[in-house]
Amino acid sequence: MTRPLPPAPRPAGGHGRPRDLPSGGAVPPGPGPSPARASAPVTTLAAERAADPSAAVRTPGEQAASRAAGAARESVGLVGAGRAGSAVALALASVGHPVVAVVTRSEVARARAAGRFPAARIGSLERVADGLRAADLLLVAVPDDAIAPTVQRLAALGALRAGQALAHLSGRHGLRALTAGVEPGAARIAMHPIMTLPGDRDDPGVFAGVPFGVTADPGAAALARRLVTGIGGTLVEVADDRRELYHAAVVLGGNFLASLTLAAREALAAAGLPEPAVALGPLLRASLDNALAGGWPAATGPIRRADVGTVLAHRRALAEVDPALAEVYRALASFTTDELARANLLGEAAAGRLRTALENRPSPGPSSPGP
Ligand SMILES: NC(=O)c1ccc[n+]([C@@H]2O[C@H](COP(=O)([O-])OP(=O)(O)OC[C@H]3O[C@@H](n4cnc5c(N)ncnc54)[C@H](OP(=O)(O)O)[C@@H]3O)[C@@H](O)[C@H]2O)c1
Repeated sequence: MTRPLPPAPRPAGGHGRPRDLPSGGAVPPGPGPSPARASAPVTTLAAERAADPSAAVRTPGEQAASRAAGAARESVGLVGAGRAGSAVALALASVGHPVVAVVTRSEVARARAAGRFPAARIGSLERVADGLRAADLLLVAVPDDAIAPTVQRLAALGALRAGQALAHLSGRHGLRALTAGVEPGAARIAMHPIMTLPGDRDDPGVFAGVPFGVTADPGAAALARRLVTGIGGTLVEVADDRRELYHAAVVLGGNFLASLTLAAREALAAAGLPEPAVALGPLLRASLDNALAGGWPAATGPIRRADVGTVLAHRRALAEVDPALAEVYRALASFTTDELARANLLGEAAAGRLRTALENRPSPGPSSPGP
């Protein structure tokens, strides 16, 4: 069972380890602020960077110095050093969480991980099981479908122990994916960065201002908050049984916004524009801002105006380039019609005309080559 996450804790510096957590979820007083940070009561990396732009990016040497100065935080074992796992582990390392073990499968991934986490034991699950067992926090950053089987393997290899925190980065999964073989006393955390992480650069400040969709066992809620805010993120609490819907919504808005943008780019290129991205940029940014701030009342375009002739012309033109694109347009136009009508922003008669135009197959138009 999950409970609401507690309010933000006191400034960084209390570093109670997971095994120290009482079952009620409160974080016991830590050893106090480190000398390095005692004079900087900072709760987020974003604030820290604002105060000192160089503070967020720490070299391994600086991290070691910081730890030596007493700022050591929960050690991390990373299972799956791909795009998201590497980004989160790098960010955690930059704020004082030593990365002690990394599981990779390929030679290429191993070499990459060695560059990123020079102090970690790196290798297959079997080879680094001991190192993982010693870690305070295990970050299972494998593809969604592999999380539960990977946790089962971790348990079978003895890499899990009581008092550890076990986390994944998936949006879809809640805590159940982490349950297999978890020792009594281990705490589960689902912490999904609501951000696209293409893995093309190593930037420990990448999570500044990024919301994380978090579900946590009561005993791990304070730790989850500290991990997320420690790397500059913000917390969005997600109920364990709503994560599939939560993730579907995030994919709809994030991943498919990218798909739609690419579709628009390709159609503009087919229309002969030399630089489609340049032509689209201002419109897309303004539309996104308007939709986020204004909702449906901010919508413009041919559906809002009930320009049936224009909608029919668009369907014809797109069908000539790519029938799949025309089908996407039809589905979105239909959805937009229904939503605008429901919000009383489109009259029933106009909505009816649009629906009829969207149900029929587009007839060949003037731009079609004749027989
Ligand atoms: N990338 C994003 O934008 C993003 C954003 C938010 C959340 N996430 C979440 O982060 C998690 C990881 O996604 P990702 O994008 O980082 O994936 P990724 O780049 O493909 O990395 C996955 C890692 O898991 C390992 N792996 C792949 N299949 C495996 C299996 N069957 N068993 C064990 N290990 C396996 C790979 O290891 P080797 O390289 O050693 O083969 C790789 O290091 C997912 O839960 C995803 O939902 C991703």
